[in-house]
Amino acid sequence: MNPDNILVTGANGQIGTVLTEALRAAYGTDRVLATDIRMAQAPTGPFAILDACDGAALEALVRRWRITQIYHLAAILSARGEENPLWAWNLNMTSWLNVLNISRENGIAKVYYPSSIAVFGPDAAKEKTPQNAVLIPTTVYGISKVAGENWANYYYHKYGLDVRSLRYPGIIGYQSEPGGGTTDYAVHIYHHAVKGEPYECFLSAHTALPMLYMPDAIRATLELMEAPAQRLSVRTSYNLAGMSFTPAEVAASIQKYLPDFQIYYQPDARQQIADSWPASIDDSCARRDWGWKPAYDLDAMTRDMLRHLAEHYGRSIAL
Ligand code: SER
Repeated sequence: MNPDNILVTGANGQIGTVLTEALRAAYGTDRVLATDIRMAQAPTGPFAILDACDGAALEALVRRWRITQIYHLAAILSARGEENPLWAWNLNMTSWLNVLNISRENGIAKVYYPSSIAVFGPDAAKEKTPQNAVLIPTTVYGISKVAGENWANYYYHKYGLDVRSLRYPGIIGYQSEPGGGTTDYAVHIYHHAVKGEPYECFLSAHTALPMLYMPDAIRATLELMEAPAQRLSVRTSYNLAGMSFTPAEVAASIQKYLPDFQIYYQPDARQQIADSWPASIDDSCARRDWGWKPAYDLDAMTRDMLRHLAEHYGRSIAL
C-alpha cells in the first residue's frame, strides 16, 4: 500500500498547531500538508495558504499532493460565531461540504471532522450527557456542528466515505492560543497565573464545563483514526470526555502551586452559551468501541501546564 499523504485545514489553529506536529511525527514531516487561511508563523513542514471555502483551490492541492486523508479543522467557534451568525454558518458548512465532496470524488481514504459539546443545548441532560441526547443547540456554531455530523453520517452511509468525528470538550494546551470559543478562559487563566497577573474570568465561578487536556485530545484523535473501521458504531460523532471543572476549581488547582494567584469574575455574553452546554459528558461509546481512556485529571493538567508555561515565560514554579 502507498503511504498516506495528509492535508490539514485550519492548521494554525489551537488544535491544528499541535495535531499537525503529531501527524508529522507519526507519518513523516513531508507527508503532512498544513493549510490555513493565513501563513504559518514558523512552518515546521509543507504549508499552503488555503481558504477551505474555495473548493477549486482545495481540490487542486488534493490532486497535486496525492492526498489520501483530510483533517478538516478550519471553523468559526461558538463565541465568535454569535457575532456574525450567517457568516459563521456559511464558512463552517461551505468548507465542510467542499471537503466531503472533494474527498468522495478523489478517492480520499479517511476524513476527520471535529465536532463539539456545542451540539447540545438546554434540552439535553446536563450531567453525563449521553451519546444520543437531543441535539437542539442555541449557537450557530452548535447548529453547524449538528448539521456537519449528519453530513458525515450521510456521506459514510450513502457513499462509503470513511468519515470519523469526535465531539471535543473545551481543549486546554500550552502550545497554542484558543480563539473565539467559550472555553478559552481555561487556557488564558494559566497564562495569567504564570505571568503573576490576576485573571478576570468571563464565566461565573461555578460554571462547570467538560474539558480535555491537549495531549489527550491529540491521542483520542489519532486513536480514533487508527481504529479498525468495523469497530466504529457511531458515524455522526463520538462523545468524548476528559474532566469537568468550574473556573473556581481550576483557580484552586493553580493556587496549590501559586498561592498568590487571584481570579475575579465578570461574566459576559459567553456565560449564556456555557449555561446551555453540558457540565459533564458520558463517553461510554468511545470507551467501548475503540478503547478511549483519558490520562489527565485537573491537577495533573495544572502541573503540566504550569511546568511548560513557566519555561516559556522564564519563571520558576515549585511543582
Ligand atoms: N471550545 C469550543 C468553544 O468554546 C467548544 O467546541 O466554542
